[in-house]
Order: sequence, then structure tokens, then C-alpha cells
Amino acid sequence: MSSTAPQDKVVLDATHFDSKARQWDENPVFRERAEKIAAAIRASVPLASTMRALDYGSGSGLLSFPLKDELGHITLKDTSAGMLAVAEEKIAALGVGNMATRCVDLTSAPLPEERYDLIYSSMALHHIPDTDAILATFHALLNPGGWLCIADLDQEDGSFHGPEVDVHHGFDRAALAARVGQAGFAEPAFRTVFEIVKERPEGNRAYPVFLMAARRG
Ligand SMILES: C[S@@+](CC[C@H](N)C(=O)[O-])C[C@H]1O[C@@H](n2cnc3c(N)ncnc32)[C@H](O)[C@@H]1O
Repeated sequence: MSSTAPQDKVVLDATHFDSKARQWDENPVFRERAEKIAAAIRASVPLASTMRALDYGSGSGLLSFPLKDELGHITLKDTSAGMLAVAEEKIAALGVGNMATRCVDLTSAPLPEERYDLIYSSMALHHIPDTDAILATFHALLNPGGWLCIADLDQEDGSFHGPEVDVHHGFDRAALAARVGQAGFAEPAFRTVFEIVKERPEGNRAYPVFLMAARRG
């Protein structure tokens, strides 16, 4: 994936996710994936009611709602206003007092002033062209000793989104671990948390999803 998409490639930008937002939570696979990732975050990080967390590329907040009672405050950031509108409606409907949304692209916006104890991100990293830059931003946004948790696809052949879509084709765990280490995080640990099964002409195909947890030095 390059920083500027080749002309024959499709970019899944904020307009794409705006158009998916209203139906997002109806997908049982997305809901189950979020529950499994939340469980893996719980198993990897000592969550505490004193922690301030950032859910980056939060979408409608499927991953944050299961964690809200175990954290002090959660900010949902996304480039899709449509996704965040759905999240805001759920926050209001449930009367949640410790979650807020912000429509922003941290790959281009100036570094905000707030700092976090935990940053997590589910299925968003493969949409962000410059992996090293966003990892450096996450490092800068975390307090010392803070945690970074990334859930995403293991490296695949491009068939998950289709060859015409300009995204990273998942991530090789060792290569991502090296990048995370270069960004200043210690001991990235990976576990497989879910499998997304898609029907393919040759039969069903499983795409594993990992959770990586690492600590800021
Ligand atoms: C596959 S969806 C995952 C949503 C949610 N995390 C989940 O697991 O249900 C990817 C999300 O990343 C967001 N996204 C893509 N590029 C982004 C960027 N540069 N900054 C913030 N969010 C981004 C999209 O708008 C979308 O909501």
C-alpha cells in the first residue's frame, strides 16, 4: 500500500465507511469479532478504572462498549463522521458517561495535547498507509508505561478485500513486531483472537485476526 493509491486501485475512505455505518452493528461477525478482541485485551492488559483509553479507527464503537465499565474514559476517534454518529447515538441511548467521540485523522492532524494509558485499534491499521508514522503517533500519545493493542489481519494475499482495493494485505507478525519495537514499544506479544471466514470460489477461506499487545517504554 502506497501513500498515494495507484489509479487502478479503490480507496476505502471516510465516504465508504459513512455508507456502511448504519448497518455496521447488524453484522454478527463484526460483533463477535469485537467481543473476542475485547476479551483478548482484558487478558493482555491490567485494565483499571483510572485508565484513559483511545480507540483509534473505532467505527461505531463495537470494541469500546464491552470495555467501558473497566476503564476510566474512552475517546473514540475515526475519520468517518457516519460511524461516529452511530457511536454517539449508542452512547446517548445507554446513558454512557465515560465515552466521547472525535472525528479526526491522526495521520495528518497535528498531535493533540491529551495523553492516554491505553490505545487500542481494531481492523483499522490495514487502512492506514504509513504504519511507522501512526505507530510513532501512538507512542507520542501514550503516557510512559502505557499500552498499545492492535487487532488486525495476519498477512494474506489480498483476497480479503480484493486485489482492486488499496489496503495493507494484513501484517506479518515478526515484521510488525520489529516496527513496533522501532517505534519505542517493548515486548510485543501476539495471540490469535478470531477467524473471519469468507466464501471463495475454491471454498471457504479463513482469515485469522491477531491481537498484539505492547508496552511503551
Ligand atoms: C474495518 S473498520 C473497523 C471499525 C471498528 N474498529 C470495528 O472493529 O468494528 C475500519 C475503521 O477505520 C477507520 N479509519 C480508516 N482510516 C482511518 C484513519 N486514517 N484514521 C482514523 N480512522 C480511520 C474507518 O473509518 C473505519 O471506521
